[in-house]
Amino acid sequence: MNKKRILTGDRPTGRLHLGHLVGSLQNRVRLQDEYEQFVMIADVQALTDNFAEPQKVRENIAEVALDYLAVGIDPNETTIFIQSLIPEIAELTVYYLNLVTLERVLRNPTVKDEIKQKGYGKNIPAGFAMYPVSQAADITFCKANLVPVGEDQVPMIEQTREIVRKFNSLYGEVLVEPEARIGEVKRLPGIDGGAKMSKSLGNCIYLSDPAEEVTKKVMGMYTDPKRIHSNDPGTVEGNPVFVYQDVFNPNIEEVEDFKKRYREGRVGDVEVKKRLAEVINKLLEPMRQRRAKYENNLGEVDEILKKGTKRAKEVAEETMSEVRKAMKIDYFV
Ligand code: TRP
Repeated sequence: MNKKRILTGDRPTGRLHLGHLVGSLQNRVRLQDEYEQFVMIADVQALTDNFAEPQKVRENIAEVALDYLAVGIDPNETTIFIQSLIPEIAELTVYYLNLVTLERVLRNPTVKDEIKQKGYGKNIPAGFAMYPVSQAADITFCKANLVPVGEDQVPMIEQTREIVRKFNSLYGEVLVEPEARIGEVKRLPGIDGGAKMSKSLGNCIYLSDPAEEVTKKVMGMYTDPKRIHSNDPGTVEGNPVFVYQDVFNPNIEEVEDFKKRYREGRVGDVEVKKRLAEVINKLLEPMRQRRAKYENNLGEVDEILKKGTKRAKEVAEETMSEVRKAMKIDYFV
């Protein structure tokens, strides 16, 4: 029996961090056996807001690929590929643009937030505004059933579903309606206590950070600002140090004991943070080792990407020929 498919991906604009890990990467590692998984390095999408910095996008292709391999995405189970090398995705995007209104794309809450954050004002690059439509093409070229992503991407999947329904009702049942799969941790706060860990906010712990760097970042984390002395009663709720303890420390009893003592003013932030740095480093250590292995063998990484791209291209060609037929543009075949 054919396995159901997964498609997901990341923009190559920087290295991946703990937010990516708990939001989506862990699901990819878990699900890669049960599903036929495609993981895309979204360089076309990265260029929609980084078109003036192609070198940055280029350099980060390898970084993202290394992070994938480091977390345990297995190239024998998962097809890892580069978006721009699948022109069918661009082709599908053009046809899907007919199926959405301008008003609808600009109402996408994630795009709206990003437009505000980037301060585009009235000068929104058209390519950027339309990227959710291109993302629908990413997801549907391989007829993905499931899309493991962070919570902020749910509006993209919703918009994809609308496009699929519209396409299928106009041209016949060709495309598959995907579902989002959110990580156990919906949104990991930044080390500065900000709502979200995000590269642009500079509040990340990267998967490839060396142990000393992780420790330094954790020891400097935002905590209960009202607590001056370690014998002041502290607040656990919403305190990022404890959010991280809950997420990363597998020893639940220890976490409960820290919380109790913190509330009673019987433990210092330093002790809780030291332990947190240890558990995060323990989680990241095998990833650092796998990364180092591939960093010393970048030729193998290239081969993985080449092979994955070839496989993705085959699948894209199949879907594209069905789409052309359904849309009555299958001339001379
Ligand atoms: N928009 C996603 C992000 O910013 C990256 C992405 C591009 C993606 N295409 C995708 C995610 C398709 C899931 C499915 O992280």
